[in-house]
Amino acid sequence: MKEKIESLRAEIRDLIAQTQTGKGLYEVKVKFQTALKGIMSGMKDLPKEEKPTFGKIVNEFKQAMEAQFEERAVVVKKMELEAQYEKERIDITMPGKAYKAGALHPITLVKNELIDIFAGMGFKVFEGPEIETDYYNFTALNTPKDHPARDMQDTFYLADNLLLRTQTSAGQIRVMEQDAPPIKILSPGRVFRSDDDATHSPMFHQMEGLVVDKGITLCDLQGMLAEFARKMFTSSTKVRLRPSYFPFTEPSVEVDLSCSECGGKGCRLCKGTGWIEVLGAGMVNRRVLENCNVDPDVYTGFAFGMGIERIAMLKYGINNIKTLFENDTRFLEQFED
Ligand code: PHE
Repeated sequence: MKEKIESLRAEIRDLIAQTQTGKGLYEVKVKFQTALKGIMSGMKDLPKEEKPTFGKIVNEFKQAMEAQFEERAVVVKKMELEAQYEKERIDITMPGKAYKAGALHPITLVKNELIDIFAGMGFKVFEGPEIETDYYNFTALNTPKDHPARDMQDTFYLADNLLLRTQTSAGQIRVMEQDAPPIKILSPGRVFRSDDDATHSPMFHQMEGLVVDKGITLCDLQGMLAEFARKMFTSSTKVRLRPSYFPFTEPSVEVDLSCSECGGKGCRLCKGTGWIEVLGAGMVNRRVLENCNVDPDVYTGFAFGMGIERIAMLKYGINNIKTLFENDTRFLEQFED
């Protein structure tokens, strides 16, 4: 019996020393318990007087082995944790994966910059619908049916009376119908014309401005545009007004800025003139005020409308409007700030 215990002790001790995992240790323990049970059941065949001594030996053996199991369990647990840490180890010096986030489109950048500049002068933003009625896009803007000025803007008609707005000027009427003067709004948005070449796109963006109050004059328009030109381009950019015609403004002007590329000396961009046309503007025609129930003998106003693509092309030196709509990321990436 004693030899049996000693050989089991040696065997289990070796097995314990070899185990590397909690699972392995558990298996050894099961084996030990089964063997111990065998030894204990053999006790019943021993002479009565030997039983207590032997029972003591078995007990000691059991306790000694359990202590060894516990000791090894601590070691094995540590080994397992270390192995896990090793497996999950990450090299924090490795370069990370760069995820490319999107960036704002140059049209949006310019639109936001325009809004910033005019908001600084007290303008609020109003956005009108892209599908308009004939009334808002033309008739209320003093451009009745058969008016020759309708030919200036080749229109996409959706139905008899519905069209894709050709100008954000339609918003002027909506604002004046909705609010009484003083009015100071900025209206950005998409407009549509059947026009397509290197500098024209069937869809483009405009930024409309409208100011209506007592005592507004053309000088106010000029001063405000001068401030806009300095902020949008350079501090030395100058503004020039040329007589023009729009049915909804009287007088009407075409607004040129001194060429920021050559400083006004004349270059390819300004076609040697030193000036670049950027927007249409004028004093709100009294007929338009009347159409919106604003008394033209009390109130006057000015309006202006500029092409956002045109401003972007000038600002960034883009020579083909189509590049703004192709969404080639090699082009767009240049504008990330
Ligand atoms: N709506 C005109 C256009 O599209 C621009 C404009 C706006 C002119 C406001 C005068 C006043 O060409």
